[in-house]
Amino acid sequence: MDFTEETATEAVVASFAGTGDARLREVLESLVRHLHGFVREVEPSFAEWERAMEFLAATGRMCDGQRQEFILLSDVLGVTMLVDAVNHRKASAATESTVLGPFHMVSSPRRELGDSIDLVGTGQPCVVTGQVRSLDGGPLAGALVDVWQADDHGFYDVQQPGAQPAGNGRGLFTCDDDGRFWFRTVTPSPYPIPTDGPVGGLLQATGRHPYRPAHIHLIVAADGHQPVTTHAFVAGSPYLDSDAVFAVKQSLIREFTEVDDPGEAAAYGVDPPFRHASFDVVLQPGP
Ligand code: BEZ
Ligand code: FE
Repeated sequence: MDFTEETATEAVVASFAGTGDARLREVLESLVRHLHGFVREVEPSFAEWERAMEFLAATGRMCDGQRQEFILLSDVLGVTMLVDAVNHRKASAATESTVLGPFHMVSSPRRELGDSIDLVGTGQPCVVTGQVRSLDGGPLAGALVDVWQADDHGFYDVQQPGAQPAGNGRGLFTCDDDGRFWFRTVTPSPYPIPTDGPVGGLLQATGRHPYRPAHIHLIVAADGHQPVTTHAFVAGSPYLDSDAVFAVKQSLIREFTEVDDPGEAAAYGVDPPFRHASFDVVLQPGP
């Protein structure tokens, strides 16, 4: 039978019939049906198809050990957060997850509770405190809290290897016996996702801005519980309503309250005025 507009989809689906891995067969079948449906709807010209292939090739060329342009593409198309959503359907009191992002590419240096993750000293001082608990409310002693954030100008250490010391804005903390953690940092700022690759070109061509609202990343893990990859977003930050990667969840927004009290500042080892954010984390029991 000829490969025609009418027979194309079934012919390609049938070509995968011998796939031993049932899940792979299911995924490929669905991919082919959706891709063919897309082509039937859009009816691309050959020039448009070539442009699409060039775009994907350029996206691939931009990927290496330091840069993952395909993940960025998934992020700006809302695919990453949709995968997150379909994997967390059940309502639960556990802390919600959000994107990992591309900047957790180095392991965070171990730090003591109360240490500063800011190795530079510019920017407004900020103290983050919280408690890690299980769904039943019990504190999770010894939980691990891995944090990373951009500096006050909106850059991660790995984006400015000469200008920022390695490990700036990063820390791996072990909670105390009451599941509590606290650390010093600088108040985070909004910043643009990388725009020097094909994804930046896509945003520009479509009139979309590249900014993310101010946030601190956290991965929190404890024995016998499911780890969570999440953010603490700064209440009132620009772009909370238009995050370039669609990652804001209302439950993750916190006040970063200005504190001018010299006694409180001294207790945390910062100069007033500083900002204080409280971010408790609830983990689901699980493997
Ligand atoms: C980030 O917050 O680090 C990030 C997340 C997704 C895409 C780009 C950056
Ligand atoms: Fe970030």
